[in-house]
Amino acid sequence: MGLPWIGETMEFYKAQRKNQLFEEFVQPRITKYGKIFKTRLMGSPTVVVNGADANRFFLSNEFKLVISSWPSSSVQLMGKDSIMEKQGERHRCLRGLIGTSLGYAGLEALVPKVCNSVQLHLKTKWHGQEKVSLYRSTKVLTFSIVFECLLGIKVEPGMLATFERVLEGVFAPPIRFPGSKFSRAIKARLEIEKMLISAVREKKKEMEGRLEGGEEDGFLMSRLVSGIIKGEISEEEVVDNMVLLVFAAHDTTSYAIAMTFKMLAQHPNCYALLLQEHVDIMSNKIPDENLTLEDMKKMKYTWQVARESMRLFPPIFGSFRKAIADIEYEGFTIPKEWKVLWTTYGTHYDDDYFQDPLSFNPSRFEEPIPPYVYVPFGGGPRLCAGYQLAKLNILIFVHFIVTHYDWSLLYPHETITMDPLPFPSHGMPIKISPKLL
Ligand code: HEM
Repeated sequence: MGLPWIGETMEFYKAQRKNQLFEEFVQPRITKYGKIFKTRLMGSPTVVVNGADANRFFLSNEFKLVISSWPSSSVQLMGKDSIMEKQGERHRCLRGLIGTSLGYAGLEALVPKVCNSVQLHLKTKWHGQEKVSLYRSTKVLTFSIVFECLLGIKVEPGMLATFERVLEGVFAPPIRFPGSKFSRAIKARLEIEKMLISAVREKKKEMEGRLEGGEEDGFLMSRLVSGIIKGEISEEEVVDNMVLLVFAAHDTTSYAIAMTFKMLAQHPNCYALLLQEHVDIMSNKIPDENLTLEDMKKMKYTWQVARESMRLFPPIFGSFRKAIADIEYEGFTIPKEWKVLWTTYGTHYDDDYFQDPLSFNPSRFEEPIPPYVYVPFGGGPRLCAGYQLAKLNILIFVHFIVTHYDWSLLYPHETITMDPLPFPSHGMPIKISPKLL
């Protein structure tokens, strides 16, 4: 378990920064000790678990044997009232409220909104350019999609930068001294809080002023505010969950999109198949007609490509849980209060589950994948609440790019950095030129 208190934290961080957490930290220990091993990270004794059985056991026993466990800085910055800090009945209630906009029912309304956002983004940021930073561009886009399409709040200049200052502190040591990452993040969080509180109160006033009350604009903020009016949710809960949604959606979706394009650039045969899918969709439409949910369902191969890219490059490495009871698992006892780290790589890179796991092969998703094997979105009660929005965002973005642009990577061998989430080290610059289909 390494040195007292600090344990193997330095080795963990060192491997993480290079995006080699699995290859340099987890894999060698699996070889030495097996798929379940103990270590000490950031002061906590931690059991790292890998494999579908472990994923099933720990993810589905959320609230019964384990609870999600985030570093203190994340909790302070996301807010103690965000869904990630909630358990049991309160968690279920918040999921219900958030799920109305993010679930299947909300999708139909989201498709045209996301299409319009992508088109506007391309018109204002890509049009007339020869080179764009794909990753950076998708970050700006996913940020505005969460705010404008999901929450119904207009993005003002400077908001993204303020948000990014919060994100920079999420995994930083929670030490407050002038100029520290964490202090800057707390200051940024206060600015965001002020802005969101004023948006929520304004919406509440507007909704209470209406004769019927109601939530007819369909945006998530209105649904949450309606929850405040009905006494189902507090103002603090609304604000903290809006912050969390932006955090959860932002870097994850942009990284998934970036890696999808990286894989398409490296596999021209797959690109040709994917492109044909989009040409076929376009051929049944009149010029400028928007995409529909039905069109999304036709993007089967595109979704296989995106899924395979997320298998090889999962945006989330895994996440921490805390044992709330002594746990007997596979002949081991995990004492109460110990941390458990489940990983996506532990199944994604294992040839017990995926044949020739390091090769890119989207067609492996033609067959159903057994539960808890493919886990970029987690599983159990904390399965990603934004899965459907992420899927829409990725498919719609891919559609508009491949049908409107010829593109190529400027740095085909660009490395990936992790801080704390993975991203292409140079922002993934690509060369673009308008395409005439
Ligand atoms: C490709 C994009 C995405 C990936 C890979 C991803 C991945 C994940 C994972 C692995 C978890 C579970 C974490 C855990 O078990 O501790 C999670 C939870 C969550 N995600 Fe996502 N996510 C993505 C996009 C989104 C989007 C677009 C939203 C919302 C707009 C979102 C909202 C959430 C929320 C609210 C949770 C917490 C659920 C809970 O605690 O009940 N995610 N996500």
